[in-house]
Amino acid sequence: MKIFKTFIFALILSSILPFSSFANQSVEEIIKGRKAMFSENYQNAKKISILLRSGKKEEAKPLMKKISDNFKKLLDYFPENTKEGFKTEALSSIWENKEEFNALMQKASDDMLKLAKAIDTADDLGAIQKKLMWSNCSACHNRFRAPH
Ligand code: HEC
Repeated sequence: MKIFKTFIFALILSSILPFSSFANQSVEEIIKGRKAMFSENYQNAKKISILLRSGKKEEAKPLMKKISDNFKKLLDYFPENTKEGFKTEALSSIWENKEEFNALMQKASDDMLKLAKAIDTADDLGAIQKKLMWSNCSACHNRFRAPH
């Protein structure tokens, strides 16, 4: 009987392990992938601020499009199985308020495209960046990202 139990246990283990390591791999890829996209957005947001300060509007516009595209991709980077691990700073409140979280992400994406248009005519470039870029970062981080 003991041998039988051991056999069953080994059988279950051997059938689960390959799958769980595969699942881990993809969770790792997703979490690391979203962190990389947020980091890229941050780098580009800082570049945008520098470019606009020296009046280089046309050079800033492709970076705004890039950030917008990343936010759109990020909508798919928070599946249920990526709530923890790999140093994620994502809070569980994301999955309790998924519609609100997605709406903020979509707004952040849309606002970057609005920003690319608005800089042509805006008088105060600092204020318009705050309104259409930085405020969206903090609005989401305040509710959905762990203090860091
Ligand atoms: C709709 C929500 C949302 C918006 C909008 C948002 N973020 Fe985040 N951000 C997050 C979440 C959630 C994390 C944590 C991701 C993780 O650790 O898995 C994060 C993480 C980050 C990180 C850390 C990445 C890392 O390597 O761990 C940076 C940097 C960052 N965001 C910058 C920004 C900037 C800059 C903006 C605005 C231009 C922005 N974010 C807009 C939700 C958002």
